[in-house]
Amino acid sequence: MGRRLRGARSLRSPGDDGMKSTLTFKPGPTSIASVHQRIVNSMLRGDDDQAPERREDDILSRDYHPQALQVAIHTWRRRMIHEHESTAVFAAIVPQLMEAHATIDFKTTVLRCAMDELRHAALCEEVIEFLGGDPSVEVEVDLQPIPRHQDCSRRVAVLRNLLFASLTETISMGLLTEERERVEEPYIARVLRQLASDESLHARVGWNYLAALHEDLTDEERQAMRDYMPVALGVLEAELLHAMPLDPDNEPLPEIMADIFALGFSESRNGRALLYDSINEVVLPRLDAFGLNATDAWNVRKRVA
Ligand SMILES: [Fe+2]
Ligand SMILES: [Fe+2]
Repeated sequence: MGRRLRGARSLRSPGDDGMKSTLTFKPGPTSIASVHQRIVNSMLRGDDDQAPERREDDILSRDYHPQALQVAIHTWRRRMIHEHESTAVFAAIVPQLMEAHATIDFKTTVLRCAMDELRHAALCEEVIEFLGGDPSVEVEVDLQPIPRHQDCSRRVAVLRNLLFASLTETISMGLLTEERERVEEPYIARVLRQLASDESLHARVGWNYLAALHEDLTDEERQAMRDYMPVALGVLEAELLHAMPLDPDNEPLPEIMADIFALGFSESRNGRALLYDSINEVVLPRLDAFGLNATDAWNVRKRVA
């Protein structure tokens, strides 16, 4: 997760080591912008007349408490950074799928997931503008590389990474489901509907890759997956808690909770409770069903600061 640093300036160009750059999801001035638009329109959006991209008449339907708007802007900005980073994760998984001789359906679907995440980041940018906020945010230029897992076969290495990505998506689905039940702003409801629909595919792809390989894994490979579970579950917990920070100085006032839900998100305390529900009720039983001993691994998970 990138760190927000407003107003930072440097003489070096974005792309230099250790630099920060401003995220933006507006298309550039060349004819490639129309190629981008065609991809969004035809491939990602399809013939969906409920497309979530912001229209001119999408304006807030009522007044909200200023703190609720402020927390909403902050939350959607954090989500925008995270969506952008997810693009890099899915894109980096593609060459690993190629190295592991995965079937083409997984390669195209994971590439699509990467494109979905870019679109999600652009949607978040529009939501921030809709809320009256400034979406510009400076993030670290350098992205976190995904693990190579050189202690196991190529297909187990990529299975670990793709399954991990899908576990985070599986948990996000639980949060999105609750947010969709409570949201009242019609435009934000359209955005959440799109996010939920795409994230459900992102969750499925890793589980399906596990299902595709499961029967064929050697004993050694299966053990390599079991060995990974305490690490994966510890990192998963740490990353998701990090994405839902508890800030006692910035606790939402009880009287603005209705506004917060109406604007389409949960506050961190509630999100954290849902995280543990999803892990216990969905993630661990499903991993156990594949013989990965996840419940045991959860109890001895590697705690990450
Ligand atoms: Fe996303
Ligand atoms: Fe996703």
